[in-house]
Amino acid sequence: MSERTFLLLKPDAIQRGLIGEIISRFEKKGLKLAGLKLLSVSRELAEEHYAEHKGKGFFEPTVSYIMSAPVVAMVWEGPEAVALCRTMMGATNPKNADPGSIRGSYAVDISRNIIHGSDSVESAVREIALYFKSEEILDYAKAGEEWLSE
Ligand code: CDP
Ligand code: MG
Repeated sequence: MSERTFLLLKPDAIQRGLIGEIISRFEKKGLKLAGLKLLSVSRELAEEHYAEHKGKGFFEPTVSYIMSAPVVAMVWEGPEAVALCRTMMGATNPKNADPGSIRGSYAVDISRNIIHGSDSVESAVREIALYFKSEEILDYAKAGEEWLSE
């Protein structure tokens, strides 16, 4: 079933010139881009984003990290997009990430792991609403969609 997921290219991805490279992977996979923006994350937004991790040792460093430079926030759509994108991202710790995955290809340390992606459909709904107004999410037909699944 078609789903939407929220993906965020973290500051290291932008600083290391990997925006195009990573977006290209999702395009080639066959997913449809429904929302896209470059932004600076405020402390309020960062803490809201990582609210589930409040109280953990990595909370503050992780909040500071996504506030440290611009990020690219995106909404991607497609069949089982949430799980598909998590697989493409690879494990949270790049040391354990499949070498063909995004984190496995481009990152070396858990504290700078390039990309965020929603872990469930419920998280995706919450995260999309944090970063996008409803009118910033576009619904449109994309050429070739009929060639992606039965
Ligand atoms: O991002 P993901 O959903 O794969 O992992 P998470 O467990 O929800 O953790 C959120 C983020 O916190 C990670 O992507 C890392 O940026 C950071 N983190 C960290 O720096 N050190 C840890 N031990 C765990 C998470
Ligand atoms: Mg997570």
